Amino acid sequence: MKILLATEKPFAKEAVEGIKKIVEDAGHEFLALEKYTDKAQLITKVAEADALIVRSDKVTSEVIDAAKNLKIVVRAGAGYDNIDLTSCSARKIVVMNTPGQNSNAVAELVIGMMIAVSRNCFNPGTGSEIHGKTLGVHAYGNVGRIVARYGKALGMTVYAYDPFIRDKKEFEKDGVIPAESPEELYSKSKYVSIHMPANEQTKKSIGYSLLSLMPKGGVLINTARKEVIDEEGVEKIFEERSDFKYATDIAPSCSEAWKEKYGFRYLATPKKMGAETAEANINAALAAAGQITAFFKDGTTKFQVNKF
Ligand code: 3PG
Repeated sequence: MKILLATEKPFAKEAVEGIKKIVEDAGHEFLALEKYTDKAQLITKVAEADALIVRSDKVTSEVIDAAKNLKIVVRAGAGYDNIDLTSCSARKIVVMNTPGQNSNAVAELVIGMMIAVSRNCFNPGTGSEIHGKTLGVHAYGNVGRIVARYGKALGMTVYAYDPFIRDKKEFEKDGVIPAESPEELYSKSKYVSIHMPANEQTKKSIGYSLLSLMPKGGVLINTARKEVIDEEGVEKIFEERSDFKYATDIAPSCSEAWKEKYGFRYLATPKKMGAETAEANINAALAAAGQITAFFKDGTTKFQVNKF
């Protein structure tokens, strides 16, 4: 089988070498399309592929149509909102992600961003400590749980809300206080870190009504997706409350304007960096390659995210 690694944002060298080894040791052929700049390059290359490994690369219906031999797509990472599941399912192409493999990297960035904005993005002047403050974790999955653990280690009181976890013990066993609703989470938490996927239910769900509930000095951290943010609502809060701060790993289109208007109350990474560590690259890459070779060996579909 031909297994194509197509990444507009390339993996670390060790991650690519690791995929190649797993693929070739299993008797398959390894193809690579890294740092491509035009979707047309992906469309041409995918025509040969039986399997595809991507990061945030957009796997649209056009890509799927061009991929006549494709049997499996693995998103080396957590969020699979970049993959057209309907087109894949219609062709019975299995789609998987590699949950948990890059979570620590994202969680570490959350802590780094919390500290950076609390120190006025390293501008001279008096900042504040995160020790002793409240932290709200919005969505308690792989990343949210690590953020909660690190928050506790830093002396924070940690709350969490997740609409899919109704058993309070899931939070309490980690020393985390369950919030009954998003409203309660935002009211209690000086810092809120969001960790939900982007989908029809979550799009634009974080906006004025929740953010206006945050205590004085409220800080929102977004390492999830820009689509979950209602940018108009965030702008309204920025305008109304001079104490509000926002740090994001997924810059909105208005990022430059916000930087100018809100100065060190707003922090955005130049490109999504949550999973940009050698460790996360290697973990996600090797997991993706292993999932594909297992699928071709015995049909294993663990971590399949689509149904057909
Ligand atoms: C993910 O969903 O796994 C993260 O957002 C990382 O995405 P990336 O592979 O594009 O950095």
